[in-house]
Amino acid sequence: MAPRFPPRLPLILLCFCSSVIVAHKDDDPTAKTMEDFSGYPIHEPHSSIQNSFSSLSVEIESLQKQIDELASFSDTPAPSVTRILYTEKDVLARRYIKNLMGLSGLSVREDAVGNIFGRWDGYEPELSAVATGSHIDAIPYSGKYDGVVGVLGAIEAVNVLKRVGFKPRRSLEIILFTSEEPTRFGISCLGSRLLAGSEVLAKALKTTVDAKNGSFLDAARSAGYVKDHNDLSSVFIKKGSYSAFVELHIEQGPILEEEGISIGIVTAIAAPASIKVEFEGNGGHAGAVLMPNRNDAGLAAAELALAVEKHVLESGSVDTVGTVGILEVHPGAINSIPSKSHLEIDTRDIDEDRRNTVIENIRQSAIRIAKGRGVRLFEFNVINQDPPALAEKAVIKAVEAASKELNLTHKFMISRAYHDSLFMARVSPMGMIFIPCYKGYSHKPEEYASIEDIANGVKVLALTLAKLSLT
Ligand code: GLV
Ligand code: MN
Ligand code: MN
Repeated sequence: MAPRFPPRLPLILLCFCSSVIVAHKDDDPTAKTMEDFSGYPIHEPHSSIQNSFSSLSVEIESLQKQIDELASFSDTPAPSVTRILYTEKDVLARRYIKNLMGLSGLSVREDAVGNIFGRWDGYEPELSAVATGSHIDAIPYSGKYDGVVGVLGAIEAVNVLKRVGFKPRRSLEIILFTSEEPTRFGISCLGSRLLAGSEVLAKALKTTVDAKNGSFLDAARSAGYVKDHNDLSSVFIKKGSYSAFVELHIEQGPILEEEGISIGIVTAIAAPASIKVEFEGNGGHAGAVLMPNRNDAGLAAAELALAVEKHVLESGSVDTVGTVGILEVHPGAINSIPSKSHLEIDTRDIDEDRRNTVIENIRQSAIRIAKGRGVRLFEFNVINQDPPALAEKAVIKAVEAASKELNLTHKFMISRAYHDSLFMARVSPMGMIFIPCYKGYSHKPEEYASIEDIANGVKVLALTLAKLSLT
């Protein structure tokens, strides 16, 4: 295990704290700024700060233990993780995180949909806080690092800063976002979308149901949320509530690992969209109804799935992607012609217009296929059609400076996966820190990130938060 207090730091603290402490508003003798423990003014060239910060230490054994323990709150057997919004396992996992936040000395609160906030007050608490965080919900049969690294890593980043005696000027706040994954209610980034002030979502959630026709509000209540009334606008935060938001996450792609680079600095997040489609045909007996007499809703779905692939490929850019991740037929019996089919289509691009063209082409295909097969296009619903988000220069610069000071190789990259950061960018300057993951695997049980790579990410996060808290 890395030493808690690297031998060099106390000396540096002794040498430099006096001059900085007098500058503090509250004259707190324990207050240490970045300058205190770096030993240099923060505007000094990188090389001078680098030496002291390279000794920030992450408690990797306990962090790995926490990742493993959190993974045990799952509805499917290890190594897969399935943790769906407001289920018993989700509630237990939330409790686990709140407990860790408390142990780290954070004051914990929750909003009406269960976004969880752990706050470390700065010595100028009236200033807007710097936030970090991610999600812990996990799609069916996924892995244990997606989102989790950005939540447990954030708590450890706070611990890292506390261990070296750092005191933030702006408060630091860790956010566990509710339901980044769309699994249960079909809405991605539910918590951050709402936090960022989506009136449309606040209204829609009053009538939203899951696949078993259970209402969002009942599910939220069963997990201890939406207590008093159904008005979810209490979740909204004002633009400017945070001076910056930065999220640590596994890359979910192969680039960093392939190139042997420790840190990805995200400059933009691709534009995601999702579409629900339902076809209705006549159904019937699989033996008795002859082929010319069929109106097969299942085949309409199959044809549309192929059309999605065709339209995506036609875009001419490798940055355009499309996936039919859900395809269900009713009644789902081998000897029954499907009378209904249901598809959920995910399409994304870094170019919003090009992504929108794909959506329109899919719509036209759905209409054409329905007509050709004599089935009804019962529903074509674009659930979300989000624009891309750009990371903020100042946050990018802070992450870059932190990586350099920690002597970690880094590169700028875009995020093809979406994240809560996409929505936090609507209300706060945003940035993301990526770390490598094995073969880029994600959303499957083989997802893996080494604890050394995670520790690098935590250190970069800690230093970035420290920098941003002092600006
Ligand atoms: C997030 O999980 C995504 O699907 O990008
Ligand atoms: Mn995910
Ligand atoms: Mn994620």
